[in-house]
Amino acid sequence: TATTLYRGRLLSFRRAPESVGDEGSYRYESDGALLVENGRIAAMGDYAAVKAGAAPDTIEIDHRPHLILPGLIDTHVHFPQMQVIGSYAANLLEWLNTYTFPEECRFVETAHAERIARHFFDEFFRNGTTTAVAYCSVHKASADAFFAENLRRGSLMVAGKVMMDRNAPQGLLDTPEMAYDETRQVIADWHGKGRNHVAITPRFAITSTPQQMEATRTLAEEFPDLHIQTHLSENRDEIDFTCSLYPEATDYTDIYARYGLLGPRTLLGHAIHLSDREADAISDAGSIAVHCPTSNLFLGSGLFPMKRYQRREKPVRIAVATDIGGGSSYSMLKTMDEAYKIQQLQGERLNPLESFYLMTLGNAEALSLADRIGTLDAGTDADFVVLDSAATPAMALRMETVKTLAEELFLLQTLGDDRSVVETYVAGHAVKGAS
Ligand code: GUN
Ligand code: FE
Repeated sequence: TATTLYRGRLLSFRRAPESVGDEGSYRYESDGALLVENGRIAAMGDYAAVKAGAAPDTIEIDHRPHLILPGLIDTHVHFPQMQVIGSYAANLLEWLNTYTFPEECRFVETAHAERIARHFFDEFFRNGTTTAVAYCSVHKASADAFFAENLRRGSLMVAGKVMMDRNAPQGLLDTPEMAYDETRQVIADWHGKGRNHVAITPRFAITSTPQQMEATRTLAEEFPDLHIQTHLSENRDEIDFTCSLYPEATDYTDIYARYGLLGPRTLLGHAIHLSDREADAISDAGSIAVHCPTSNLFLGSGLFPMKRYQRREKPVRIAVATDIGGGSSYSMLKTMDEAYKIQQLQGERLNPLESFYLMTLGNAEALSLADRIGTLDAGTDADFVVLDSAATPAMALRMETVKTLAEELFLLQTLGDDRSVVETYVAGHAVKGAS
């Protein structure tokens, strides 16, 4: 089959940058090329060198002067909340009860789930995001709709049928047995089919009975390679209510630990208000605290102590995410813009190289998928994004004074959004305008 060469300015990370001057943490090719064959990256590097090694009939696509980066990764989103974004609520629990639960009830209709799934992929690809970790609704058919659509789209997606059996409207409740059986069925039907990955998905401790938490334990034991995703310590009222439901647990984190849910593939959405004991437990387990900056600001949940978590003697692993529809933007650029400001409010710095590391390799490492996604390394899947740092008049004007790559990335993060996404490639196919 034909190979394609993409020319542009390549940027790919090797590890987390410690400062803006940490040039060993990334690879930048000012006149670079990416060679793509059968949906995989066959080579990356200096244009002349890659071209010299390419077959003579190689197709060449010139993306200069734009940046070519690994596809952006979003590690926490809610697929059934696309029509919840921008709902006016004072806090998490009011927002869930007033807008979110009623909206998720609509996913009992398969046609509705299928329609929103089509919009989901359109919107993520438009924003340069090629992998997401998604909550579906409680309805098994919502997971079927999501995975079937992704089989057509070809991206690497992690998702799960939500397990919830209390403290929500009747239309959103399963039972411990249903949650177990249907999750097993979703795994059998979809896990490993194409690039679909199934995650065990108890929504959070408030909406699961101890009996259902036992069912999640069994699933986690039976499928140790699967991701587990849930919410943790997002809002003070949520924490108080949760702890009242599990009085035997030491704290919120201990609830998940007691049911065997803390491990290196566990994604803990928000994890804002952790005690030192909780942070130690999460660090020891190797679980991931998933920072959702636009959501935390929008719902007034709190300021995620990213730098404090990273600096601890027992560091907490971090990922970043939009949390659509508590989050207010699909764009990982906008997400990191807000993440930067959240650190500013705590007297901390988040350097632009680290931001771009987090939305690519950092999130891939958090998912234990860095051998497939998150870099431009040869042998990995050809998921990449082409970004224009001068996409708007204001950006073009500002670019006139930009001197370094770090400055350019910071500008992209601060002023950029979907307008900066020139093209998105999934397994070597241009997908930004595709439906
Ligand atoms: N906690 C439990 N469910 C949700 C949800 O849908 N969104 C957010 N932000 N937090 C939650
Ligand atoms: Fe969430």
